[in-house]
Amino acid sequence: MSNKIIIAIDGTSSTGKSTIAKRLAKRLNYVYIDSGAMYRALTFYAIQKEYISKTHFESNKLINDIPNIYIDFKQNKETNKFEVHLNGVSVEKHIRSLSVSNLVSKIASIGKLRKPMVKIQHFLGSNKGVVMDGRDIGTVVFPNAELKFYLDASSELRAKRRFKELVDANHDISYNEVLNNIILRDKQDISRKNSPLRVASDSIVIKTDDISLDQLENKLFSYVTPLLSKK
Ligand code: DC
Repeated sequence: MSNKIIIAIDGTSSTGKSTIAKRLAKRLNYVYIDSGAMYRALTFYAIQKEYISKTHFESNKLINDIPNIYIDFKQNKETNKFEVHLNGVSVEKHIRSLSVSNLVSKIASIGKLRKPMVKIQHFLGSNKGVVMDGRDIGTVVFPNAELKFYLDASSELRAKRRFKELVDANHDISYNEVLNNIILRDKQDISRKNSPLRVASDSIVIKTDDISLDQLENKLFSYVTPLLSKK
């Protein structure tokens, strides 16, 4: 019998979820799934098709296209990193832009768009051995996950981290734009009707303000080890 588990990492944006999820997955030889990248890929598709902009959103057109939209993750042979693919093409480079970040919450608020994403997430986790991060992984996608974490940090610190990442990736952006986007996305993620961001009752809540990545990794890992030896 497999002794692999599912680890769900939820929380507000830019709390270090993906960085820490990747580290845990590497340490455990698990698969890392960035569920936010799936909503971002869908948003990128909708922008390209001109279904969504700052001023309009034709959600029905996007919903109608769902049977023809294929989202999955494949390893980049050069970097060894898993990248999100939209209809067979890596869109990893495009999905972190502010234009996608500003519109993704609108897409993620639609139940008929979340459902097919959750179906893919269930498939990806069907053999366990996954670390998946997002907003509803411990509450909706894998409510029976063996281990659930909820990460949070102040908006200012999260904006600082995100701003640095974007500047390092050559995005032309101001700190205030990043901060405003983070505040708005939190609000939208928490207040939406479908699968809002919530702390699962059995989640381990961790504040990431005053903790280094190494410390955070070790802290999370300390919860993993006892579970693996129990199996
Ligand atoms: O983690 P992220 O910032 O890349 O996620 C992008 C957006 O997708 C975020 O604003 C909320 C949404 N999201 C979601 O609704 N459910 C998830 N499981 C993951 C992300």
